[in-house]
Amino acid sequence: MTRRAHLQCAVVLLIVAGCSTPRATNEPSARTASAAVAHESPRPSRTLPSSSGQPGVAVGVHGAVATAEANASKVGLAVLEAGGNAVDAAIAIAFALAVTHPLAGNLGGGGFMVVRTARGESVAIDYREVAPLAATRDMYLDAAGNLTHDSVNGARAAGIAGTVAGLALAHERFGKKPWAQLLAPAIALARNGHVVDAYHADELKKAVERMRKAGFDGSTHYYVADDGSYIAEGATWKQPELASTLEQLATQGAHAFYAGELAQRIVAGVKALGGVWTAEDLASYHALAREPLRFSYLGREVVTMPPPSAGGIVLRQLLFASEEWHMREQPWRSPEAAHLFVEAARRAYADRNAWIADPDFASVPVATLTSSAYLHERMSTIDPAHATPSSAIKAGAANGAVESHETTHFSVVDDAGNAVANTYTLNASFGALVVAPGTGILLNDEMDDFASQPGKPNQFGLVQGERNEIEPKKRMLSSMTPTIIVENGQLRAVLGSPGGATITTTVAQLVRALIDYGEPLDAAVRAPRVHHQWLPDQVSTETELEPAIADGLRALGHTVNLATSGRIGHANCIEVDPATHGYRAVADVTRGDGSALAY
Ligand code: DON
Repeated sequence: MTRRAHLQCAVVLLIVAGCSTPRATNEPSARTASAAVAHESPRPSRTLPSSSGQPGVAVGVHGAVATAEANASKVGLAVLEAGGNAVDAAIAIAFALAVTHPLAGNLGGGGFMVVRTARGESVAIDYREVAPLAATRDMYLDAAGNLTHDSVNGARAAGIAGTVAGLALAHERFGKKPWAQLLAPAIALARNGHVVDAYHADELKKAVERMRKAGFDGSTHYYVADDGSYIAEGATWKQPELASTLEQLATQGAHAFYAGELAQRIVAGVKALGGVWTAEDLASYHALAREPLRFSYLGREVVTMPPPSAGGIVLRQLLFASEEWHMREQPWRSPEAAHLFVEAARRAYADRNAWIADPDFASVPVATLTSSAYLHERMSTIDPAHATPSSAIKAGAANGAVESHETTHFSVVDDAGNAVANTYTLNASFGALVVAPGTGILLNDEMDDFASQPGKPNQFGLVQGERNEIEPKKRMLSSMTPTIIVENGQLRAVLGSPGGATITTTVAQLVRALIDYGEPLDAAVRAPRVHHQWLPDQVSTETELEPAIADGLRALGHTVNLATSGRIGHANCIEVDPATHGYRAVADVTRGDGSALAY
């Protein structure tokens, strides 16, 4: 394995974690990493698009948000209405979700944000967690060489958190509203409390039960009522410790998370829980501004996440196959179309698992993996009449299954046409199930995204290789795929999803529904999904998948299984309606909570 000092993806900018100072500018900053898109045409005027009236759909002409939780959506919309731009709203939403949606919203995790400005500039902000300095390749193996649960539960599972640094970098680059103003709504939600809906009451109860089962009783009091009972639907839930932490970030700036009194408290808290974080780990964390991965699909430009996410490369491979095999000529939602898609996914995920990792630590052949010549060769082995066994694509066997976990994706667009696709996570629902004492900060279990035991499946059943083995300061491979679609130089859609390994196939199916078949976004989001990830060699499906598709796939030689939770992804997305140029925001409410708002 080669360690390389330079960055694979032309990282031209880097800030020391949290060095942002609050400032106000009138426009999203022009100091972005990439050149403006050529041939941009003047922005067409917008009128209100039609709405299906389905739950979770909102239409507007000035701005829109789609998130996993109603309070967070309200926060985002209020920022837009008060003249903040899409990045301002995204920052406020991310902090709000850390309070109201602890399944995945976080301060103690990490993620990716793809920003595209109305001027056509774009940047991919990488605030993925890194392995602690004390991490070692075999840290999750027992004496007999078997994988333990430590990469999933407890403080040892936590990578060094990047969220606060990432949001600070986004603010530094694009923010218009003062930093403290963007934290204020989250502080109010935590300090004064917010009313918990039925979905979150149930999730909080389940998390407390899981914490107790895992022996983390010390963290349960954050998620129950004062008398120790479960927080009921309709109850007001206050989080004073988290409020204090957010207040420190508001008054002292993001750097407080990485150096100083709060940082010391975080490190002491993690240590008390048996974790290995040090002051040096926090002080040396950097969020990165990377050049997005861009490619064209049926004449549109796709702007998406490069490594250390595999999402962009896998999306390119899936969409290349779609174009190459003329998948749009197959009837939409037919076994034939599903078969070709699944066969492309089988091949793309085999590449993902073998080749992709943190580009600062492993040489990732991005150019080859995304090149037409390579993909033409690779995808030409698809047999339109029969499933190719995964063993024939690449040797290996696994018995993992696609589990239900939580990450969260949200999308924002503003009046000027700036757009943000943000996916961030604690990895599993409620992350490592432990809160750093004295901070209210729930820790992630992102270390499980490394190949803790190369060749063996992780919690998503992904069988990953040595390039993604654990090394200090390395970013673990991700599937998160925040994506922006551009048509004729204008914003067309803001897409993304949680769902572990299923994230990228979810985004690819959304792109195909919108672009290949011209479906409105709400229909595209509602449509049942399929997934294949090379290993295990099976098609995962949702409960609502049309039986004819499942039967047709079986007839073509596929093993078809229901995804463990019966659902795949949770895509809170926005499109620009091609007819009216107005915004249609869609929350994926048939698969969980969520709220889309527009004005
Ligand atoms: O980065 C990744 O690919 C995973 N940590 C994402 C986890 C996830 O999506 C869980 N949620 N549904």
